[in-house]
Amino acid sequence: MNHNSLDLFEALNTAETIARQAGTILRSFYERPRQSITKSTVIDLVTEADKTSEAFIVKALREAFPNHHINGEEGGGYGPSAEDAPYQWWVDPLDGTTNFAHRFPVFAVSLAMSTPDHHPVLGVVHNPMYDETYKGLRGGGAMLNGRPLHVSDVDTLAEALAVTGFPYDAWTAEDNNAERIGHFLVRTQGVRRVGSAALDICTVAAGRCDLYWERGPQPWDVQAGIVIVEEAGGKVTDYEGGWSEDAYFGHRIVVSNSLLHEQALDVIRLGDAAPRPVLAHGTD
Ligand code: IPD
Ligand code: CA
Ligand code: CA
Repeated sequence: MNHNSLDLFEALNTAETIARQAGTILRSFYERPRQSITKSTVIDLVTEADKTSEAFIVKALREAFPNHHINGEEGGGYGPSAEDAPYQWWVDPLDGTTNFAHRFPVFAVSLAMSTPDHHPVLGVVHNPMYDETYKGLRGGGAMLNGRPLHVSDVDTLAEALAVTGFPYDAWTAEDNNAERIGHFLVRTQGVRRVGSAALDICTVAAGRCDLYWERGPQPWDVQAGIVIVEEAGGKVTDYEGGWSEDAYFGHRIVVSNSLLHEQALDVIRLGDAAPRPVLAHGTD
C-alpha cells in the first residue's frame, strides 16, 4: 500500500468541493415536501435527501480515488475492500436528519479520509444553511471558511458551554444520557443539543462550545470532526480517557478544548448516579 503518492492538500480540496456540492443538493431538497422512513428505531429517520446526497458523494469519491474504500452511512461499503485500500472514507451525506426532516436548519455533510487504523487524516464538515465549511488536515491545521480555527481557553466547567446528543435507542436504553446531562447542567453555563454530531465537534474546534460528549455516534458522524478538533488544539477520548474504538468510532466519545478534558471525564464518571445540585457559582 502506497500512502505517499497521494497529495493530501489536493485530496482535502477535492473533499471540500464534493461536500459543498452535496450541500447544494441538500438545500435543493430542503423546501420540498418530504417523506421520511425509519431505520434502526422509530426515531431514526432517513429521507430521499440523505440517499441522493450519498449517491452523489460516493460517485464523486470513486472517480477521484478509485483505489480507496468508501463507507457510506446509507449504502455500506464501496470500492476495494478496506483491507486492500491505502485509505478509507467515512461519508455522512446528511448529519442531522431529524433536524432536516423537521425543517430545523442545522445539518451538515461530513467526509473523512482515514488510514486503515482509523486515524482520520483529513476531514470536511459543511453546513449548507449557514454556508460554513470546516476542514482539517493532520499536521496541517484546521480552518473555518478559510480562517484558522482554535479551541477556547476556558479552563473551568463553571465557565464552559457544553454540547451533547442522544442515542436513537433513547426510549429504551438504560444509558440514554438523561442522568449525565443533569450532571453537566448543574456544573456548566449550559448544555446544547445541536442535532448533528459532526457539527457538535466542530463547535468545540471553533471555540463556540468547550466540550462535547455522546454515547451512540458512528464513525461517519465523528471521523471528520476528530481531525478538525485535534488540529484546532482539542482532545478526543473515550469515556475512560483512552483512544479506543469507542473514541475513534464515536460510540462513547468525549471531546474538549484539552484544558477541560479531565474535568469532563470526572463528570462522565458520575454515570447513572442521580444528578445533584452543586455549589452555586454566581456572585450575588
Ligand atoms: C445523528 C446526529 C445526532 C446524533 C446521532 C447521530 P444522523 O446522525 O449526528 O446529533 O445524536 O448519534 O446518529 O442520523 O442525523 O445522520
Ligand atoms: Ca450522522
Ligand atoms: Ca446521516
